[in-house]
Amino acid sequence: MATETERGAVATYIPPLARIDPKQFGLCVVTADGEIHSAGEAEEAFSIQSVSKVFALTQALGKIGDTLWRRVGREPSGTPFNSIVQLEREQGIPRNPFINAGALVVADVNLAGHAPRVAIGELLRFVRYLAEDETILIDEHVARSEQETGFRNVALANYMRAFANLTHPPELTLGVYFHQCAIAMSCRQLAMAGRYLMLGGLLEPGGARVISAQRARRINALMLTCGHYDASGDFAFRVGLPGKSGVGGGILAIAPGKASIAAWSPGLNENGNSKLGTLALERIAEATGWSVF
Ligand code: DON
Repeated sequence: MATETERGAVATYIPPLARIDPKQFGLCVVTADGEIHSAGEAEEAFSIQSVSKVFALTQALGKIGDTLWRRVGREPSGTPFNSIVQLEREQGIPRNPFINAGALVVADVNLAGHAPRVAIGELLRFVRYLAEDETILIDEHVARSEQETGFRNVALANYMRAFANLTHPPELTLGVYFHQCAIAMSCRQLAMAGRYLMLGGLLEPGGARVISAQRARRINALMLTCGHYDASGDFAFRVGLPGKSGVGGGILAIAPGKASIAAWSPGLNENGNSKLGTLALERIAEATGWSVF
């Protein structure tokens, strides 16, 4: 099998991410019967960034159910993750919950009138429960850095507030969002946390129900159509699995009924998605026949 030498570039707009060694690579596959297969730096914690949007969406749907869809769409945007252009034309309703604007609305729902630390504490507990790992933490340094440099997100939040699609002061919603992005997890923890999406909403086979089977199916559908922003079509074409990427270089991919897979390599392609992570998933899907198509 050919070896890829070009790893892509680490994200530089969040300063602590710019210092990450791009030569790292990790992979973890958790299968439906509970087997765990790891390779490379699968135990190394990295900033999950936008992968957190999957868990935050699950949390928000748990709070307000389908009324969420009055405030966020379910269509691919065809625009970069941090784009603002559609918001003016579409009355402050973001296209989907995975672009930054949509994730800010989701964070606003999760805030639910509480202090940001309450909402973020709840999300962290949820992720620890899913991964069955109490050691998962938030990297405060990354969160602070985004608070200082996340001007586009500040713009998105204020813009949506002007359309009354944020109900809290933007700085509080942004506090929740920046902290959820700064959750640090390893490939193993992430693949474990994704099991409920592989198992039709169950934590483990025959285990506790996290969400309904219908909701798990729908979140997977959104990951497939919107999880890689303006490269979602390309990811579906190459990998054929629901997936969610983050600018930390992580990708969570779900083979429904078969596996929950986390890949990580910090070098990104031009759309802000892990270059080697995508390639690894493409090869796994090819070798296993796990594509949903
Ligand atoms: O809001 C941001 O810019 C980052 N916290 C997250 C962006 C991200 O991960 C986009 N995904 N590829």
